[in-house]
Amino acid sequence: MTNARTKASLFNAMGLGPVWELKANETPQVQVPAIPAQGVHQELPSLKSLQNTVANCKKCSLCETRKQTVFADGIAHAPLMVVGEAPGIDEDAVGLPFVGRAGQLLDRMLAAISVSRANNVYIANVLKCHPPGNRNPESAEIAECSPYLVEQIKANDPKVLLLVGRFAIQTLLNSKKPVGELRGQVHRVTLDGLDIPAVVTYHPAYLLRRPEEKSKVWDDLLLLKQQGII
Ligand code: URA
Repeated sequence: MTNARTKASLFNAMGLGPVWELKANETPQVQVPAIPAQGVHQELPSLKSLQNTVANCKKCSLCETRKQTVFADGIAHAPLMVVGEAPGIDEDAVGLPFVGRAGQLLDRMLAAISVSRANNVYIANVLKCHPPGNRNPESAEIAECSPYLVEQIKANDPKVLLLVGRFAIQTLLNSKKPVGELRGQVHRVTLDGLDIPAVVTYHPAYLLRRPEEKSKVWDDLLLLKQQGII
């Protein structure tokens, strides 16, 4: 697909279209299949035991209000790992990350660059439990929970990270700069001997409120694709 045509399909997918329809002989966008209820496919033993540890975690008060922990979805060892903020009310009910409206937008964004949970991405959050009322994560909660994320990243060893929203960025890049200042360049996440390229972008929940920012996300997705994940 040409760049302009791919951009059109992204805009359609993100609700800014239709720009144009694919012709019969053109390759269609990757169809994102229904998310399997069990979560991650091809589970590795170390991730499985980490998931069990997380399921029993009582390190902060979110354990008192969660319905269940939300560990990850997608493919273990995928070349791309997406890191979000925290489970919302839908994720708390289902037990998988990014299944609500923001998650559906994330799936469409990823599909536009031929990425899907069934094939080539692993998705997790900074917090594994839903903060009641959808409030922002507190710094003490992030401090307790982020070691689980670090272990997930180390076990997956992705080629590249996509950090969506300020809490993922603050946690892994240790920067309080706004997303708008950090996007447009490839950062490095350095963890215990790992040195992983990281692209940052706006959180899909923010995009639902500010659809005029979606075209910037296209540039971020192109930058991500240039990291050779597909
Ligand atoms: N927002 C996130 O950051 N993560 C989710 O899993 C859902 C919404």
